Amino acid sequence: MDAPQLKTSLPGPRAKALIERDGAVVSPSYTRSYPFVMARGAGVAVEDVDGNVFLDCAAGIAVNSTGHSHPDVVAAIVDQAGKFLHMSGTDFYYEPQVRLAEEMNAIAPWQGQKRSFFSNSGTEAIEAAIKLARYQTKRYGIIGFLGSFHGRTLGSLSVTSSKAIQRRGFGPPLGGVYHAPFPDPYRGPAGQSEEECVARSLDFLEDQILVHLVSPDEVAAVVVEPIQGEGGYVVPPVSFFQRLREITSRHGILLVIDEVQSGMGRTGKMFGIEHFGVEPDVVAVAKGIASGLPLGVTTARAEVMAWPPGAHANTFGGNPLSCAAALATIKLLKESLMANAAEVGEHLMEGLRGLRGKHALIGDVRGKGLMIGVELVRDRLTKERAAKERDRLVDECFNRGLLVLGAGRNTLRLCPPLVLTKEQADTAVRIIDESLAAMRPS
Ligand SMILES: Cc1ncc(COP(=O)(O)O)c(C=O)c1O
Repeated sequence: MDAPQLKTSLPGPRAKALIERDGAVVSPSYTRSYPFVMARGAGVAVEDVDGNVFLDCAAGIAVNSTGHSHPDVVAAIVDQAGKFLHMSGTDFYYEPQVRLAEEMNAIAPWQGQKRSFFSNSGTEAIEAAIKLARYQTKRYGIIGFLGSFHGRTLGSLSVTSSKAIQRRGFGPPLGGVYHAPFPDPYRGPAGQSEEECVARSLDFLEDQILVHLVSPDEVAAVVVEPIQGEGGYVVPPVSFFQRLREITSRHGILLVIDEVQSGMGRTGKMFGIEHFGVEPDVVAVAKGIASGLPLGVTTARAEVMAWPPGAHANTFGGNPLSCAAALATIKLLKESLMANAAEVGEHLMEGLRGLRGKHALIGDVRGKGLMIGVELVRDRLTKERAAKERDRLVDECFNRGLLVLGAGRNTLRLCPPLVLTKEQADTAVRIIDESLAAMRPS
């Protein structure tokens, strides 16, 4: 399928009808920003129910890592489906789960033996990490970062601090959770050095949280994304993680890295944290690991994941179809897609940076691999957030056949399938360029 190809006005008649039915019966808590109704997909192209074809730079919120319905992934799922669909790894054994744990043991970003716990989603992968950290350290405190997103079940929601609406009405949150500012190299006083940027975050953690709020010997874990995702695709300085690792090691605090969005090859390395040269104690992955099937994995140092039978488990986690899809996904990532994400990501970022000269709204272009954010501002000096303009840009792109999403208050995010080609990246840049041009006051 060549993308984009628009045949009707948007939404088309079939899309309109389905959205109306959805509005009557589906929870209104979902945040649909434009009326895309999926019919089928292949690679980076997705077709809606009216036959319009879009270029997909959203990938079901950074999930379809190998592209839509990659034949190798589909074949692995079909093969497994013909054998058995479910048995529950909690009570029984099956090879796909063991093989995936062995694979995680091989790829998780630290030396030494690992163990993996299986669930169905990102939030569950984080819940498992929080429970494990508390269990293992016999401490209660958890430190997270402002602007972070870790999921919406009550434990992970207590660490999430992305948007107040996500917490509003659900309090009180879990006790013993504290938040430090996340280092944002773009925001902060003009001319700040990398060191100052990191200090604004970690001095607060060390000199305020660990002095006034909680004793370090009562902190179980620091939970942090390598690159803030929902918070606006914010890439911290390398020295942030180096100092954070030093602080956590000094106090016996576990470093839990949330790789749900940044993991599985998206940044051009298997795990986002590999860009920062530190070794964590626990990683949580989901989203891209199984190319679209539900799967969460929490992988920890073997000596950390030492809890007795019955301490934590679930019915569906590590479903055999999801494990088969994950094994096929990891193979493709290793063979070519991780390298493609690095190469095409660089190309896409260059293209987007090239638009800065033409469009004053673009304040910053940043990211790693195919995890790219374009922050919009009303004024490059004051950096006033262009939130409404960002929403409009997302709509303008949709109307031209490009699916993108927002992140944070005023950032456009591009998180396409990792099979994106340079030509498709150029198409995305062209559509963003045209969309921004259409938004200029005439
Ligand atoms: C970094 C991060 N952690 C956790 C989650 C939660 O994942 P899920 O929606 O699968 O529960 C998300 C979802 O966007 C995420 O981006």
